[in-house]
Amino acid sequence: MPVLVEELVACLNIRPDGIYVDGTFGSGGHAKAVLERLGPKGTLIACDRDPQAAGCHHADFAEVGALLKREGYARADGIYVDLGLSSMQLAEAGRGFSFMKEGPLDMRMDTTKGETLKQKLSRTNEWELANILQTYGEERSAKKIARVIMEKKKKGKLETTRDLAEAVLEVSPQKSGPWRIHPATRTFQALRIWVNEELENLQQFLSQAPHLLNAGGRLCVIAYHSLEDRMVKRAFRRLAKEEEGFALITKKPIRPSPAEIQRNPRARSARLRCLTKN
Ligand SMILES: C[S@@+](CC[C@H](N)C(=O)[O-])C[C@H]1O[C@@H](n2cnc3c(N)ncnc32)[C@H](O)[C@@H]1O
Repeated sequence: MPVLVEELVACLNIRPDGIYVDGTFGSGGHAKAVLERLGPKGTLIACDRDPQAAGCHHADFAEVGALLKREGYARADGIYVDLGLSSMQLAEAGRGFSFMKEGPLDMRMDTTKGETLKQKLSRTNEWELANILQTYGEERSAKKIARVIMEKKKKGKLETTRDLAEAVLEVSPQKSGPWRIHPATRTFQALRIWVNEELENLQQFLSQAPHLLNAGGRLCVIAYHSLEDRMVKRAFRRLAKEEEGFALITKKPIRPSPAEIQRNPRARSARLRCLTKN
C-alpha cells in the first residue's frame, strides 16, 4: 500500500506530458498513481536497486542523473523517492531484514553486489559496531548491544536474524503493550542503513536531483526516520535560501492522516517534503 500517495501526487503537480522519475519503484504503487495522471506524451522512468522489484530499471537513485541520460533526457519535471524498505522486502525471511522472521544475516537491497551483514560483521569490532548502532539507530543501549553481538559472534552463535534479535533482547527485554516498538527495531534499522550505505546514497541523490529539474519541476522525498528526514530538510532549506530559483513547497513536512495510519500502520513515521525549481 503506497504511503501518502494523494499527497505525493498533489506535490508533484503532474503535467500530463511531463517526464517523471520514480527512484524507488518497489511494487509500483506510487508509479501507478503517477501514470494514471500522465497522458500519451508523458514519460515515467522508474528504478529500484533491488533486482526483485520487477518492471523497472535496476539502478540506484544515487545515480539518477546517469539513468535520465541513458534514457535520453537531460532533465525531468518531477523526481521522487519513497525511502526505506518495501513490504515485500520485509515480508521475505530470506532477505534478512526482519526480526520477526528467521533469516540469513544479509540485509542487502541490491543482492547482486556488496557485502552481506554477516560479511560486514566479520570485519567489524565492538567499538565500531556500537558507533553504528548509536549513529544510525539512535540506540541508547548501543554499547551493551554491541558487546553481546560480538560475544555471540566469537562463540559462533550469530548465524541468523533470530540470533541477532535475541542478542538485543538480552540487553533490552521486550516490554508489554501494543504501542511499544520491538527492542530490536533500532538495531535492525542501523544495520540495514550500514549495509546499504543508505545515507551516502541519499546524500548523492540530494546533491544531484535538484539540478536535474526543468523549470517548474518538483522534487519529493518521503522519509521514515529522523536521520533521513533531517538530511532532506537541510538540503532543501539550503537550496531555497542560497541558490537561485529553488523554493520550498512544503515548509513543514506532510504527515499521513490518522485515517491513513489506521489503514496502514507502516505509514505512521512518514514525512513528505517537496522542493520546486522556478
Ligand atoms: C518504501 S519502498 C517503495 C515503495 C513504492 N513507492 C511503492 O509504491 O510500491 C522502498 C524501495 O526503495 C528501494 N530503494 C531503497 N534505496 C534505494 C536506492 N538507493 N536506489 C534505488 N532504490 C532504492 C528499495 O529496494 C525498496 O524497493
